[in-house]
Amino acid sequence: MNIGPYALANPVFVAPMAGVTDRPFRQLCKKLGAAYAVSEMVTSRRDLWDTLKTSRRANHDGEVEPIAVQIAGTDAQMMADAAAYNIERGAQIIDINMGCPAKKVCNKWAGSALMQDEPLALAIVQAVVAACAPHGVPVTLKMRTGWSADNKNALTLAQAFESAGVQMIAVHGRTREQGYKGLAEYDTIAAVKAALRIPVVAIGDITSPEKARDVLAYTGADGVMIGRAAQGRPWIFREVSHFLATGSHLAPPLVGEVKRLLLDHLLDHYALYGEFSGVRTARKHIGWYVKTLSGGEAFRARMNLLQTCEEQLAAVADFFDELSVHTDRVPAMPAAAGEQHEHQEHQEQDENREKASV
Ligand SMILES: Cc1cc2nc3c(=O)[nH]c(=O)nc-3n(C[C@H](O)[C@H](O)[C@H](O)COP(=O)(O)O)c2cc1C
Repeated sequence: MNIGPYALANPVFVAPMAGVTDRPFRQLCKKLGAAYAVSEMVTSRRDLWDTLKTSRRANHDGEVEPIAVQIAGTDAQMMADAAAYNIERGAQIIDINMGCPAKKVCNKWAGSALMQDEPLALAIVQAVVAACAPHGVPVTLKMRTGWSADNKNALTLAQAFESAGVQMIAVHGRTREQGYKGLAEYDTIAAVKAALRIPVVAIGDITSPEKARDVLAYTGADGVMIGRAAQGRPWIFREVSHFLATGSHLAPPLVGEVKRLLLDHLLDHYALYGEFSGVRTARKHIGWYVKTLSGGEAFRARMNLLQTCEEQLAAVADFFDELSVHTDRVPAMPAAAGEQHEHQEHQEQDENREKASV
């Protein structure tokens, strides 16, 4: 599939996750088979552009193209300015966030809350498209199925956005009201796909190669985005894209490969955040990597007490060296049904993280 002039190598993408899909994680996902990644959202508030958080988010040094930046806000002119600001800093695709349910965003009527105000949502899209068009930068958009079960307006909005010049729409199969609860539904995504000419990407609860295949078949979507199932498992992208291309499963990675991937991930992470912040924000990633591994929970508790990069790197290396004495490979991806339960346990936690980081 294409987004404007950019041809994507396969239909499996990493979903934007504030506090997770920073540049080091996006690079890793792309290296491991994700054909496309969108940055964490950048606020449209000019007064926040010089903060460390926003400048880190707007840093794309060494990023594999196309560089896509998600913007979030409530004012059409500010969103247009934010698009221009990010284009100046290397964005090749601008993505509008109408999918995020975090309160901090919604109280200001940004993210998925915009879906409740259709004229404002359309005005924002028109202003951003007008700001991007002179630079030849495609605009994409990420939305939910609607505001609530009684107000699923994704189809109406998607048609208006396509007419306004949006070049790809990604739909998460939940309403804003659902947050991350319940199951994603794919009928609305199928209806959006059937009505549009531009590419449509399906999102929500895609946790295994089979689930990706089934969602693509059911919705007719051009691609899938994977969010939570990629946390601590960035090789999911090569597993899913390999399965979609061949119908066969790749073996899960060797313990030694995961050790190398994680250590490289950490080095990149520290390089972006520095030692103090880097060690602390790396803990959640390390926790996700070891979550399903033997001794992972105990290791996570110990590792959370470490204060320096050196100690964290050494502890991770020792953990995987010890694991490799007993086993060659990390466990295969859990079956989709089992994993849903596991995701639900972590939903609260994920939502809190998201709120804390946007
Ligand atoms: C921690 C976290 C942060 C997120 N941040 C964003 C964001 O910044 N922008 C956005 O459009 N969606 C955001 N999302 C939503 C995801 O992109 C995705 O739509 C959602 O997690 C459903 O996909 P999944 O079931 O594969 O996780 C976030 C989700 C999580 C769990």
